[in-house]
Amino acid sequence: MKIQTGSPVRGDDFFKRNRLIEQAWELIETGNHVLIAAPRRVGKTSLMYYLLDNPRDHYNLIYYITESVNNENEFFRRIINRILKTDFIKRSQKVLTFLKQHKPTITKIGADGVEFGVSEDHDYYEMLSTILRSISKESDKLVVMIDEFPETLENITKDNGETTGRHFLQSNRELRQDAYISQNVRFVYTGSIGLENIVSELNAVNTINDLSRLKIPPLSSDEAKLMIALLMKNVRFELSEKLVEYILQEIEWLIPFYIQLVIEELRNVYRDDGLSEVTKQTIDKAIHGMLEHRNHFEHWHTRLRTTFESRDYNFVKEILNLVSENGHIHSNEIYNLAVKYEKTETYKDYVGSLVYDGYINNHDDPKVYRFNSPILRMWWRQNVAN
Ligand SMILES: Nc1ncnc2c1ncn2[C@@H]1O[C@H](COP(=O)(O)OP(=O)(O)O)[C@@H](O)[C@H]1O
Ligand SMILES: [Mg+2]
Repeated sequence: MKIQTGSPVRGDDFFKRNRLIEQAWELIETGNHVLIAAPRRVGKTSLMYYLLDNPRDHYNLIYYITESVNNENEFFRRIINRILKTDFIKRSQKVLTFLKQHKPTITKIGADGVEFGVSEDHDYYEMLSTILRSISKESDKLVVMIDEFPETLENITKDNGETTGRHFLQSNRELRQDAYISQNVRFVYTGSIGLENIVSELNAVNTINDLSRLKIPPLSSDEAKLMIALLMKNVRFELSEKLVEYILQEIEWLIPFYIQLVIEELRNVYRDDGLSEVTKQTIDKAIHGMLEHRNHFEHWHTRLRTTFESRDYNFVKEILNLVSENGHIHSNEIYNLAVKYEKTETYKDYVGSLVYDGYINNHDDPKVYRFNSPILRMWWRQNVAN
């Protein structure tokens, strides 16, 4: 397992989260459409890659990241093109017949099969639904995994208005609910921003209430220790059990990304300082060094800036500034801020989205919020609050 920080991991670099993989398949195999919910960098894309690379018998999976798409027809066109590349479609006589009938519209016929080009103007929703209905009941099942789905919805809504956004959600729902299609096809969506929040702003909660949620929790302490042991193959020093415990205690929110970052930074410090062993001080220094990599954390800040209008942004920023300064914030203090910003009606939604998007939690006490991780707290304090 190599150290990899930033892009999704694949193959041997993926730390196998057995329980999570099992849960994902259980949902799929019992006929659910799934929404994988987790903030950025928690490991959603890596999980989808794992499912894609390790399909269970009688399942065909496709993966598609739709982040840059900003209109519905384009979204469905691209999904069709992905589906047409699967062997499984090539084996379906009905689909091939359908495609023959639509031959004039097919622009590319190559080794990869057929593809519909950008300039072609069709109702791709209708076409997709016909193709999916043409899959015979006896054939393998198809799992369509769509990454960054809420981002796509956000693009569509921003560029074309809320009605268009709702229409997009509705079309997706109709495909999932189609009695014939749903026997053979499962949809799995994911994205780093809360789909629920965006959908509820659009007053369209009913368009996603059929999705089963799959949460990606942090690693357990045993898993985290195992992952560290695997990553240690990349470094020249050793870590005693005590030091491993210390690392876990310092990171607190045991997502694989933070573990990767710490080990990577320890490797740098050990090498650059010419050390002969690693101590608590080395770990402190590594954690400090981690925070210097702005690109690893900056999205936590920019996300708020792009989501919230200036006054709303100031409100949530002040909440987070206080949490970073004091370590926690009581719901009374949040309420006082809401009074100051004239947000007493809606402040719970703001707090909800900070929780959902992975900034803060109130696990220990429902009335007290803290950063998910001391790492994020430290970063926020150094780079945003001060
Ligand atoms: N199962 C895993 N094994 C090893 N590293 C992981 C795993 N999942 C996530 N990571 C780490 O987290 C980073 C972000 O993972 P990614 O799948 O891109 O997250 P997301 O899609 O949620 O933003 C990776 O670059 C890697 O450092
Ligand atoms: Mg991702």
